[in-house]
Amino acid sequence: MAFVRYYSLSSAPGVDPRPQITVKRAPGGKWSGLIVDEIAPGNIIEYEPPQGLFVLPQKLPRKLLFFASGSGITPIYSMLKSLKISDQVVEAKVFYSNRTSSNILFADELETLKREFPSIQVIHFLSREDKKGCRGRLTREYIAAELNTLLSNSNGTLAYLCGSQGYVKDVEAWLGELGLSPTQIKKEVFLSSSLSSVERSAQSKSQIRTINIPEVEIAFETDQGVIRANSRGEVSILDVALDRGIQWSSACRSGICGACQMRMKNGSVIQAGESISGSGKTVLSCISYPASGELTLDLKSSSMAALK
Ligand code: FES
Repeated sequence: MAFVRYYSLSSAPGVDPRPQITVKRAPGGKWSGLIVDEIAPGNIIEYEPPQGLFVLPQKLPRKLLFFASGSGITPIYSMLKSLKISDQVVEAKVFYSNRTSSNILFADELETLKREFPSIQVIHFLSREDKKGCRGRLTREYIAAELNTLLSNSNGTLAYLCGSQGYVKDVEAWLGELGLSPTQIKKEVFLSSSLSSVERSAQSKSQIRTINIPEVEIAFETDQGVIRANSRGEVSILDVALDRGIQWSSACRSGICGACQMRMKNGSVIQAGESISGSGKTVLSCISYPASGELTLDLKSSSMAALK
């Protein structure tokens, strides 16, 4: 049997001897159940090199903020481990949200990190359990109060957001209101594992049909000049770009790995049923469809470098 799935690495190069992923059994999840219950020593698993843009930059900023919900902690845990062996001095604050304490991943490992590296702080938020040492649901007010000093001079700050679509959307909006620019916010959305890539695309497409968009003129601004295309929202923005001969990276094609991100300059798109608009916003082009009369995407390497 062969199937392909994309997972964040929970290991860190230079820290762990080999690549590791962390798989949480999703209720009714076909593949997660198979991996947890059936994979055994002797099975052969092939893997491709890591892809995506949800990584730390070579030169670290002075302050790092990490916002995770549920299994969104996985890639963030990997980054925290990388900080352990970095010779750059960085303050890191982790805001980790779960429903109950039993949902917390890497609970012991995060405690050890906190103990060994006082520059790494971890704050737990539980929405459905009162527990000593943990807070309730994460709110905009909490972030505003907590980061008051930091955000008054936020230039040397990067924020990494990983979790469900609703969680990432809320935190991204709050951080924007509190003064972080879109280039200071990196995000990876864990879309519901109950939806296949085909279903996710269908979700976007059906919304496109509902709002009945007119023909969209898409302008891809590249290092070689502007490449234009027309679309009525039938195919993803990634496919439109590839069709016009633009070489653009992609891997999972299902909104998970982040390899296909593009930066919007104007216009709006529908991404997995959600409308996204605004200059500087990043979209996952493999599951996004144009939704406004004009759409401009900034693919210039100088602009995309900020995503890395
Ligand atoms: S998110 Fe993986 S290719 Fe688009």
